[in-house]
Amino acid sequence: MVNQRDPGDVAAEAWSGVHRGPLRAGEWVRLVDSKGRKHNFSLEPGKRFFSNRGHLDHDEMIGREEGFTVTSSAGGEYLVFRPLLSEFVVSMPRGAAVVYPKDAAQIVAMADIFPGAHVVEAGVGSGALTCSLLRAVGPHGRVSSYERREEFADVARRNVGQFFGAEDGAPHPAWRLTIGDLAEELPASGEHCDRIILDMLAPWECLDAAAGALRPGGILCAYVATTTQLSRFVETVRVHGGFTEPAAWESLVRDWHVEGLAVRPGHKMIGHTAFLVTARRMAPGERAPRKSRRPAPGAYGPDYTGPRADVPDGADAQVDESPEE
Ligand SMILES: C[S@@+](CC[C@H](N)C(=O)[O-])C[C@H]1O[C@@H](n2cnc3c(N)ncnc32)[C@H](O)[C@@H]1O
Repeated sequence: MVNQRDPGDVAAEAWSGVHRGPLRAGEWVRLVDSKGRKHNFSLEPGKRFFSNRGHLDHDEMIGREEGFTVTSSAGGEYLVFRPLLSEFVVSMPRGAAVVYPKDAAQIVAMADIFPGAHVVEAGVGSGALTCSLLRAVGPHGRVSSYERREEFADVARRNVGQFFGAEDGAPHPAWRLTIGDLAEELPASGEHCDRIILDMLAPWECLDAAAGALRPGGILCAYVATTTQLSRFVETVRVHGGFTEPAAWESLVRDWHVEGLAVRPGHKMIGHTAFLVTARRMAPGERAPRKSRRPAPGAYGPDYTGPRADVPDGADAQVDESPEE
């Protein structure tokens, strides 16, 4: 017999951003027409939604259970659901570019975000990743977000508030938002955390602050858009020495068309979003052994001007041919 623990007075769906029951005024809905075009908006009593197929009254939708079809004044049919988190973040108002759902999923999995975790993130931008982090840590965790631009923080506050939507307007209990540069504010806060996620132009500038706040065994994760950022971040982590060898990757998602005998990859896909890097924090004073693999010819040749970690004695003489995990 499974020994079930008392989950306390917190409902399973608490602060998940998922709402059940009839659609309420103030909630977002997502309408999809017969051509797959999407329209997302907040339901307001007395308001109308207009499209090239006439109009629809919001009052026709308020009070109904999601998962129905409505017909506009000019005969257009629309499927009505509440947006999923992955749908909400790509349609919500944006200040800065958002972390796309495919990458947010990688971050939650590979940075091992868990219920109750204390996660630090910067910058908060439009708050897309914040929503995934808050959902993963739950009401008993903590997401401390740092954002240096007040106007982006305002956009994020509205988006996170809209998604988690407490009826009384209360903010998510696990969320702390600090305006300022992570490199200065995180050390000043005295916070210690399990995971740090950096989504910003120059994450290497925040490495010392991240190392100071991250618990031994904690995970540092960076999300960078270009190869030059990727190289500089990885090399700076190596130079720092207080982390394990960084792992770098990207994820590509391809839709498939499945219809009778016509089963093939879709014609369109998102070619590039960003690269991900993770490394684990060593205990104070400990250094991870560097890979005893000879650098590729020319990797650190005369044209390389970036940071470079010391090469351990004998590393250039050995080649580790063991396959990657
Ligand atoms: C690409 S956006 C982040 C998007 C966000 N992760 C999302 O999913 O919506 C990058 C943000 O980092 C902020 N930023 C850059 N460097 C920062 C730093 N050192 N400390 C705090 N915020 C920073 C920028 O102002 C910008 O809003």
